[in-house]
Amino acid sequence: MSQPRPFAVVVLAAGEGTRMKSPTTPKVLHAVAGRSLLGHVLAAAAPLHAAHTVVVVGHGRDLVTTHLAAIAPAARSVVQEQQHGTGHAARVALEALAAAGVDLDGIVVVLPGDAPLLTSPALAAMLEEHVAGGNAATLLTARLPDPTGYGRIVRDPTGAVRAIVEQRDADEATLAVREVGTSVYAFDAVLLREALGRLTTDNAQGEEYLTDVVALFVADGRPVGAVTVADHRDAAGVNDRAQLASAGAALRERIVHAAMVAGVTVTDPSSTWIDADVVIETDAVIEPYTILKGHTVVRAGAVVGPSSQLTDTIVEQGASVLASTTIGAHIGAGAEVGPYTYLRPGTVLGADTKAGAYVEIKNSQVGDGSKVPHLSYVGDATIGERTNIGAATVFVNYDGVHKHHSTVGSDVRIGSDSMIVAPVTIGDGAYTAAGSVIIEDVPAGALAVARGVQRNVLGWVARKRPGSRSAQSAQAATAQDNGSQRPEVRDQD
Ligand code: UD1
Ligand code: CA
Repeated sequence: MSQPRPFAVVVLAAGEGTRMKSPTTPKVLHAVAGRSLLGHVLAAAAPLHAAHTVVVVGHGRDLVTTHLAAIAPAARSVVQEQQHGTGHAARVALEALAAAGVDLDGIVVVLPGDAPLLTSPALAAMLEEHVAGGNAATLLTARLPDPTGYGRIVRDPTGAVRAIVEQRDADEATLAVREVGTSVYAFDAVLLREALGRLTTDNAQGEEYLTDVVALFVADGRPVGAVTVADHRDAAGVNDRAQLASAGAALRERIVHAAMVAGVTVTDPSSTWIDADVVIETDAVIEPYTILKGHTVVRAGAVVGPSSQLTDTIVEQGASVLASTTIGAHIGAGAEVGPYTYLRPGTVLGADTKAGAYVEIKNSQVGDGSKVPHLSYVGDATIGERTNIGAATVFVNYDGVHKHHSTVGSDVRIGSDSMIVAPVTIGDGAYTAAGSVIIEDVPAGALAVARGVQRNVLGWVARKRPGSRSAQSAQAATAQDNGSQRPEVRDQD
């Protein structure tokens, strides 16, 4: 089967989306599964390889145009100054192409900007039918359990499509029809332009309806075909926040299912959220309550979760991420992350590293085999290989004005509760004593001790807190020590 290549894809995205009740965000920029509604539609259309992609913008046009430049730089945006309806929007798009010197030719695919569940196979099936039937227009339709709000497909007794009638213009009998238009069409470009010029605003909303092109073609005796989507949810449009959430849930189900079919173990599909652009390799395991966002990649044999949220993170083979939050991190093969670890942008963990409990790392490289096991902050640092960062170490990277970088060599032992005050360099094989505040470079192989010397004030509790529980315990301990003939007090070094 050779798939016909459309001349143009036109996405209608100028509407305000009043029912979203969103003063700041145009409807098509609301997101599910890590992509805008518009982004999902363009992704479904991408495999059609249309010669031209036109997005009709209006409400929030600056935001939509900026977004479009980021996600589909080859697409052109066309402004529909006033939203006089879907037919008007399609007309504006074709006029803009003509004004740009593009000759109309072949097939125009029209898509709504608010249908994030559209699939490429559904569009391909519509195009195939369009060409096979020699149609002037081919509609993608859906049979809905509840068709309220959608345009109804009116067919004659032979089953041929006669018209699409909007909810607000429909009589009782038509309202009972459960087959609806999805706002997805294939048109003959030249015939479409001609018909759009004949649309009227004689309807309940006073708009130029793209749907009316169907009745015009039928009246002209031109063939109109239809393809019905197998799963009606694939055609769902998003008009309000409840439909946005439903679309997100349906996408989640679809994406998680596809991952499982591809050989990923998903322990609990119902609590697993995976964005559309996430890549997961075979034999990775995704444990419950896990959210994988953005351009996250999970390689073969890695285990993520339970209870983890990864954004734009790469998890290499065999690594594990338990109960942690990561963003913009690269986790090396066999590395162990978590529980309760926060990896921020620029974190690069080498192979077989560990970032343990209550550890935060940002903009730092941790070399192969190095460990940051407990309660630490590592910021703006380069750590060599096989180095251990003791519990509760802080890389003090910020002087209140500037961030500074620290370098720690290989095979270093940083004592617990060290403060590494940047900028500082600690050489290979060096040690720091627990509780040190390191403000100067430490040569390779040296032990750095940078802390106050301990002084024990003997008998202080008995004198200053007489009768307290502490004093009683101290007295009992002293008596016991005397009984066992140990020295009453000992100096410590
Ligand atoms: C439209 C269809 C309806 C179909 C439904 C499927 C019409 C008249 N109705 O209704 O038959 O069942 O989609 O979801 O076509 N837009 C513009 N410019 C405008 C008006 C709309 O660009 O002047 C865009 C919107 O941003 C949106 C799309 O066109 O992305 C559809 O518009 P919307 O108002 O959502 O139409 P529906 O009432 O859902
Ligand atoms: Ca709609």
